[in-house]
Amino acid sequence: MATHANIMIWFLVSQVVFLVMVPRIEAKVPAVIVFGDSSVDAGNNNFIPTVARSNFQPYGRDFAGGHATGRFSNGRIATDFIAQRLGIKQTIPAYLDTAYNISDFATGVTFASAGTGYDNVTSDVLSVIPLWKELDYFQDYQKELKAHLGEKQANQTITEAVYIISVGTNDFLENYYAFPSRRRSEFTITQYQDLLAGIAESFVKKLHSLGARKISLGGLPPMGCMPLERTTNMMGQHLCVESYNNLALEFNGRLSNLVVKLNKQLPGVKLVFSNPYYAFMHIILKPALYGFEVTQLACCATGMFEMGYACGRTNPFTCPNADKYVFWDAFHPTEKTNHIMADYVVKKFLYKFL
Ligand SMILES: *[C@@H]1O[C@H](CO)[C@@H](O)[C@H](O)[C@H]1NC(C)=O
Ligand SMILES: *[C@@H]1O[C@H](CO)[C@@H](O)[C@H](O)[C@H]1NC(C)=O
Ligand SMILES: *[C@@H]1O[C@H](CO)[C@@H](O)[C@H](O)[C@H]1NC(C)=O
Repeated sequence: MATHANIMIWFLVSQVVFLVMVPRIEAKVPAVIVFGDSSVDAGNNNFIPTVARSNFQPYGRDFAGGHATGRFSNGRIATDFIAQRLGIKQTIPAYLDTAYNISDFATGVTFASAGTGYDNVTSDVLSVIPLWKELDYFQDYQKELKAHLGEKQANQTITEAVYIISVGTNDFLENYYAFPSRRRSEFTITQYQDLLAGIAESFVKKLHSLGARKISLGGLPPMGCMPLERTTNMMGQHLCVESYNNLALEFNGRLSNLVVKLNKQLPGVKLVFSNPYYAFMHIILKPALYGFEVTQLACCATGMFEMGYACGRTNPFTCPNADKYVFWDAFHPTEKTNHIMADYVVKKFLYKFL
């Protein structure tokens, strides 16, 4: 009963905040523009030659129409819920998706690519879109937006839009700590974090120089708690891998300092560090408070290590109800987790843009 009451209170508070905020939200945020990796890719990878794909069942089985869009989830991803929460729309389309055009992108677009990282070497691992290329696409987008809306209104959209950056996990898990790893032979982990934080800094500066003002730089989740990492943690009874979680905390500290510094340096910028770590950790430590039953294993396939093509339609082990699981595949949260995290990020960090 106590649990139920907590959820009810939490739910009511979130609804009240939402209702109070709606009128100003709609006036102030014309678009949500997204950069990053699979946490925020809505299907760009369907249009490039890579194996980092999810445009097949059971991905998307809880999406509108049961449609597998290329989102690495059973349904919507966090940025979709953020756009909804800001009163804009239900989903943010992928820039390369030919089913959409500039009329759709004018209120929100994602340039993200599953498998990418801050580091160019990370995007090379799975031949996906490097982060610098996402910025090139953003420049193309600006031209299209000016042609579509007229320069004055396009400028206003570019200035007032909320920009979301969500990337970094792959640099560590798919690149630095993978086998073999060129980066591990070149850099200590401290040096590598410096390299990544330096790239994050130039990325934000470039984005600012292109007109962005309201920017959210996302931190790392407790990446040692992803089912894939827990499965391989044989010596540690399949608990979360503490060294990866500590690394996430350490890197988040750097990003947080970077945000303080850039807020002083960049004229007119409103940069926030959106830290998902503690809220996500709370879900993993107290799943029942949120209605979850399983945290260690993912819903899809055996839940131990499958993602992408290994999460095939015919796998008989895929769970019937993803809402009971924190993770959808061995690396990505379920729609329900995405929804909770999106609400949290809006209430805790993005409200500063409203
Ligand atoms: C975008 O596509 C819709 C139909 O899907 C069409 O009505 C609209 O004219 C298109 N807009 C542009 C700018 O091409
Ligand atoms: C990544 O590659 C691009 C294009 O080759 C280059 O401009 C950029 O400097 C590289 N970034 C880093 C940090 O090496
Ligand atoms: C739009 O923004 C660009 C770049 O900041 C500026 O050069 C241009 O004068 C602006 N145009 C209008 C119509 O406001």
